[in-house]
Amino acid sequence: MLRTFAARRHTPCSLASASKLSVGLPKTSRLAFGVNRGFRTHHPVLEPIKPFLLTDIGEGIAEVEVLKVAVKEGDTINEFDPVCEVQSDKATVEITSRFSGTVKKVHYNVGDIAIVGKPLIDIDTPDADAEDIPAPDTPTENTQSKATPQPEAVPSSTPAVTVETSGKVLATPAVRRIARENNVDLARVPATGKGGRVLKGDILRFLKEGPTEVSSQPDTLQSRPQSEAAAEDQVVPVRGLMRTMIKTMTAATAVPHFGLDEEVEMDRLMEVRTGLKGMAQERSVKLTFMPFFIKAASLALKQYPILNSQLSNDQQTVVYKGAHNIGVAMDTPSGLIVPNIKDVQRLSIMEVAGELNRLQQLGKEGKLGTQDLTGGTFTISNIGVIGGTYARPVVNLPEVCIGAVGSIRKMPRFAEDGSVVPRSIMCVSWSADHRIIDGATMGRFSNAFKRYLEDPNSMLVDMK
Ligand code: COA
Repeated sequence: MLRTFAARRHTPCSLASASKLSVGLPKTSRLAFGVNRGFRTHHPVLEPIKPFLLTDIGEGIAEVEVLKVAVKEGDTINEFDPVCEVQSDKATVEITSRFSGTVKKVHYNVGDIAIVGKPLIDIDTPDADAEDIPAPDTPTENTQSKATPQPEAVPSSTPAVTVETSGKVLATPAVRRIARENNVDLARVPATGKGGRVLKGDILRFLKEGPTEVSSQPDTLQSRPQSEAAAEDQVVPVRGLMRTMIKTMTAATAVPHFGLDEEVEMDRLMEVRTGLKGMAQERSVKLTFMPFFIKAASLALKQYPILNSQLSNDQQTVVYKGAHNIGVAMDTPSGLIVPNIKDVQRLSIMEVAGELNRLQQLGKEGKLGTQDLTGGTFTISNIGVIGGTYARPVVNLPEVCIGAVGSIRKMPRFAEDGSVVPRSIMCVSWSADHRIIDGATMGRFSNAFKRYLEDPNSMLVDMK
């Protein structure tokens, strides 16, 4: 999941140090420091201070949030020492130094938004020769990095972060943020969470009561009424996944949504799943209802491909996506993320289940990478796992359709002979981009989806 990139070796030069750039990244990301040739005009050879630029993250990402700054001005750092940790919409990345030297300037503080193409830090590397430094837009790091052996991989959490990347202190992003903002070393905060996790209450207590009192009297403090801590308002800056959610959901409000709710009788599917559970276990796969929903959606998408399309930004073209990369809204310890299962149209239900298991595991561990989080073409959200009957999902742009399923509930329904019978009912709520999806198409797609689930044998007919 992680990659380390080595920078191009620049020789020959009397002052040059050919150094390596070590950046832990999710599969498809590219994050690299560039070095600005023009900078040298301001600094003579005797003091070759170099600005490291944040460049080429990929996926169209133009900015990242600075989560942690590991250096300050005047620090002496060695090659591969951590410089900072940043978070894009997709991943968290620790960046290490490619040079040894003295930090002359740190351009960002924790919580700042670092802009691609702008310097992160300036570093004085007396043994370097700026003549040999490429211009910022020279893509040398990425092109050579793939073939270069990795002398030192830098551990980096790829995901939507749940754990301190140091690997020492477990905490959620919200807790880490509070710690950062108050200059608190999380390792000093007595943790009461499972596995030594520092909970929000722990850090708030620590801030309120101070370290000495907390560490010496943890029991007393824990027994204090919650209301005491909760009484004050707290202002917390918007960061991390919440920031991403604000951006994506705000963009989605520009899209007129068409909504449709439908009921699905789940009794036959429940029988089928029960019958297949043993086979799934033999293959070490957990077979829930989701793989059936995902496969049924894919089969229905074959009939109504416009629901697997994307409208171009200029609204002049519609791209019918060839692959059914079906996203699954996932409730993870760090928040909502939507990894997608690639090429569902080519996968069996058991293969879909295997993929879902893999994504869920990575989501739990906070290790989902860019590859799994990008490229989705359609989304399904199972809010029923948590509870709730109906939902009003919001399209996950640039996709044009999303479905949310509610909890399966035993409900009275009429049989064909007019008698009242118990049925296992699940509601599915569809939202579609009404600019290009009309209600009739949505309704027909929903009918096809419902039919596949109510009569699972019918899926066999259309599966390849
Ligand atoms: N109604 C009743 N039971 C359901 C259900 C539903 N709609 N969906 C799943 N279940 C059952 C599963 O079958 C499983 O039972 P089992 O152990 O007997 O097999 C159990 O609930 C737990 O399922 P889970 O482990 O969560 O797997 P899943 O494949 O059903 O769902 C996710 C996977 C990722 C979708 C789910 O865990 C999740 O995160 N849902 C939340 C999505 C969300 O937050 N949406 C809001 C978006 S804004």
